[in-house]
Amino acid sequence: MTRSIVIAALLLVGCSGGGTGSSSSGTSGTSGSTCPRDLPQSCPSPEPSYATDVAPLIQAKCVQCHAPGGVASDRPLTTYAHVNALKQDVLDQVYNCLMPEPPQPALDETDRQTLLGWLVCGAPDN
Ligand code: HEC
Repeated sequence: MTRSIVIAALLLVGCSGGGTGSSSSGTSGTSGSTCPRDLPQSCPSPEPSYATDVAPLIQAKCVQCHAPGGVASDRPLTTYAHVNALKQDVLDQVYNCLMPEPPQPALDETDRQTLLGWLVCGAPDN
């Protein structure tokens, strides 16, 4: 349910540029009452860089599980190609505060905005 809403939001922001209808999905979900559910409305300027902003963040917060030997090694996030292939799911998981999983603490607001902003930019290899 929320997944399709979020993906629709991504498509709206990503493709049409400057979406109008701010359909705030009012129902706060069950998981994590503190989840801010804040998706940047447009690609931030300057664009977050994969190489200098996003990759180190994922390295620090995700790859202990999402790499060979980790509990989610079937979904590696160790290269740009991996992340790009999973970008829709990454957006969904991070937007809804489902990832990172415990015991890794939730992303702080700066990291959230970096990662979600980069995804709204279309996940460039920059
Ligand atoms: C403590 C371990 C752990 C950490 C840290 C972690 N993950 Fe995961 N992740 C998992 C596990 C386990 C699954 C598989 C869950 C399942 O299949 O139900 C998963 C699944 C996923 C999926 C696929 C979800 C789906 O519906 O297919 C994505 C995308 C994802 N994680 C992204 C991330 C991102 C991005 C981060 C860092 C911000 C992260 N994860 C951090 C353990 C982790």
